[in-house]
Amino acid sequence: MKKHFTYFSFSLISLLFICCFNCTSEKPQQETVTNPEIMVDSAYQQPFRLAYHFSPEKNWMNDPNGLVYYQGEYHLFYQYNPEGVAHANMSWGHAVSKDLVYWEELPLAIGTGPGDEQIFSGSAVVDINNTSGLCEGSDCLVAIYTAHTDSLQTQHIAVSNDKGRTWTKYENNPVLDLHMKDFRDPKVFWYEKEKKWVMVVALPQQKMVSFYSSTNLTNWKKLSDFGPQGDASGIWECPDLFELPVENGGVNKWALLVSYNPETGSDMQYFIGNFDGKKFTNDNSDDLILKVDDGEDFYAAVTWNNSPDDRILGIGWLSNWKYAKQTPVTAWRGAQSVVRQFTLKEFPEGIRLVQNPVQELEKLRTAHQHFDNLTISEKSNAEELTISGTTLEIIAEFEYQADSITGLSDVVEFGVMVFKGQDQETIIGYDVASQSLVVDRTNSGDTAFNASFPVKEATLMPTDDYTVKMHIYVDQSSVEVFGNDGYKAMSFRIFPDPLKDQVELYVNGGAVAVRSLDIWKLKSIWEKTEIQATASATAE
Ligand code: FRU
Repeated sequence: MKKHFTYFSFSLISLLFICCFNCTSEKPQQETVTNPEIMVDSAYQQPFRLAYHFSPEKNWMNDPNGLVYYQGEYHLFYQYNPEGVAHANMSWGHAVSKDLVYWEELPLAIGTGPGDEQIFSGSAVVDINNTSGLCEGSDCLVAIYTAHTDSLQTQHIAVSNDKGRTWTKYENNPVLDLHMKDFRDPKVFWYEKEKKWVMVVALPQQKMVSFYSSTNLTNWKKLSDFGPQGDASGIWECPDLFELPVENGGVNKWALLVSYNPETGSDMQYFIGNFDGKKFTNDNSDDLILKVDDGEDFYAAVTWNNSPDDRILGIGWLSNWKYAKQTPVTAWRGAQSVVRQFTLKEFPEGIRLVQNPVQELEKLRTAHQHFDNLTISEKSNAEELTISGTTLEIIAEFEYQADSITGLSDVVEFGVMVFKGQDQETIIGYDVASQSLVVDRTNSGDTAFNASFPVKEATLMPTDDYTVKMHIYVDQSSVEVFGNDGYKAMSFRIFPDPLKDQVELYVNGGAVAVRSLDIWKLKSIWEKTEIQATASATAE
């Protein structure tokens, strides 16, 4: 059956756009002219390779690990197989960034061994006063990770005295051993009030997390447990705990993040409450489930220790254990999300975690189009398209009409289609009747590698003024959507056919006002000028 969508193409919009530019103060930027001196390494031009999300040059990557800011660098360690695209030989890969946008991949940080020991997920801290006694100077980086074998998981530490470039495993490892097969993913942070280190670590099979404390990172004392609560339908992994002011609430609260992995696929939830240095107490009822991201592909997200300006910054693995091992790529497998800033805000239903892409990403913006006050309606104008692209940022603010008493509207659904071409699209929409933000990747390209991949997902995003905001990041094989200023986030991998690069607004039923629309083409972070490329080739 033919879909009853109507399209408003950018060909028509671009006519309007000339008018818009003439009547707004904003100056249009020129389309970027391909500069012959700008080159992108061939490794970053493979099919589906993301242009501004971090992925390693080759091989398998999953969880972000050891996120820490130290001496001007944001460190991103990650679960990495140095030998191939399978989840095996788990080690810590390493990348650094000065601005959370451009990442430089460095040599392997922590490798496997002795014996069959693999280096599973964990965190890193700046041991500021050499509390461990393991620093050569007054401070150093200490990584706290899970050493994994088929029969045992224990917590180990390793030390770096050269800004994370090389690591020495502590000779008296493990620092925490419960003789358990499943006990992993320690997140350690400094608890200033009691001048001690706190660890939150997962007991996956029990669907619980435990808290420990230490004054020296080597001796750990049990404090308490939390869980099972919220969603306990699958194993719990990769916890994180941080404190934030509630933006409009005048108090501080703690957010506990938990990744969990039921048969239905990987997911993340959070709890809001208090942490008194020993115990986390949930402010909400035990069975309330609060999701971090309502898409299919945002897992194991954790936050940076020691971020400047007290920002809580996080990043997550853009995948799902349901199909991560089957994604249709060859030389590399796995990508991280854009870096997000987490905040807490009070809504009518309670305090919720809000997330938005970091502002630093704005430096990637190039060609830009801006429109004010368009109306999209049933009339189709889909023939010619002038804006296209697969690395885009889109900010759209829609407003629909509805009966003020009943809330009923002629409008059924509206939004933006990306990765669009003949017979293919990824739909980011708003479903008026259910008041939901929706992403549909059922017809998004290669979906056949796993039966659970083609899905349409929806998340409740009620609006009381009929206004819907979408902030969308599109990058070759991913879509991240932030709805109503970060109230909801939805992240997805997409594997579109080549040349499916059109963008279209659509409405199904009635007419919708687009109060404002901005589209930018975004630069690749792997671009190098000829001079930089020659310099790094000479250095290698
Ligand atoms: C989460 C996870 C962690 C574990 C790591 C292994 O994705 O399963 O619990 O430490 O991946 O790579």
